[in-house]
Amino acid sequence: MEIKFLGHAAFAIEHEGKTALIDPFLSGNPKAAVSADEVAADVILLTHGHGDHLGDTVAIAKRTGATVVAIVELAEELKEDGVENVIDPNIGGTADLGWLTARMTPAWHTSTTPKGTVNTPAGYVIEVGGKRIYNTGDTALFSDLALPSKRGHIDLAILPIGGHYTMDRFDGVAAAELIKADQIIPAHYGTFPPIETDAQAFKSDVQNAGYAEVIVLEPGESHTLR
Ligand code: NI
Ligand code: MN
Repeated sequence: MEIKFLGHAAFAIEHEGKTALIDPFLSGNPKAAVSADEVAADVILLTHGHGDHLGDTVAIAKRTGATVVAIVELAEELKEDGVENVIDPNIGGTADLGWLTARMTPAWHTSTTPKGTVNTPAGYVIEVGGKRIYNTGDTALFSDLALPSKRGHIDLAILPIGGHYTMDRFDGVAAAELIKADQIIPAHYGTFPPIETDAQAFKSDVQNAGYAEVIVLEPGESHTLR
């Protein structure tokens, strides 16, 4: 299984010819590694409805027929916008796509869509190809980041480190201790001036503490999970 960083908080998980997109904000994203017109998608997992996450979801879903997973209030907006295949769990619920499952976890953040729909932000525990990936979504440091590993070992975590809108890289180190993942990919930094940070310093701090291996991906780069 491959996980490709598409820039900001957007990722593509590719497994056996299928693609799960996470938070496909591509148009208007200065770090986007692909265009919304060409990206493949079988499922789109949305953590919340802020513009830098909802992004091109509606256009990609209409072009590809991808199923979109989003918390119920956000899912309703997507249905009204003409997305045909929508799964609408709430926190704690699981979307089962057969080849992939995604369980919604809490995140400490706020969210209103560009159209004005208020929605509760979330993260996901994604199980695919025998691996478990915890994408925390946009969140501050909070103690419940420790909970997903109590149900099953976390192979890889995706964690925001840019600060300002989410935890910064220092809280990210504390988060890494709580999450107990083998590997961490940092995200949500460097896209805009308020979220500039030093990802290599985050990597050294986490690895020197022995919390996880940190993989810093440039937009367009992939990491293989074996
Ligand atoms: Ni946000
Ligand atoms: Mn964000």
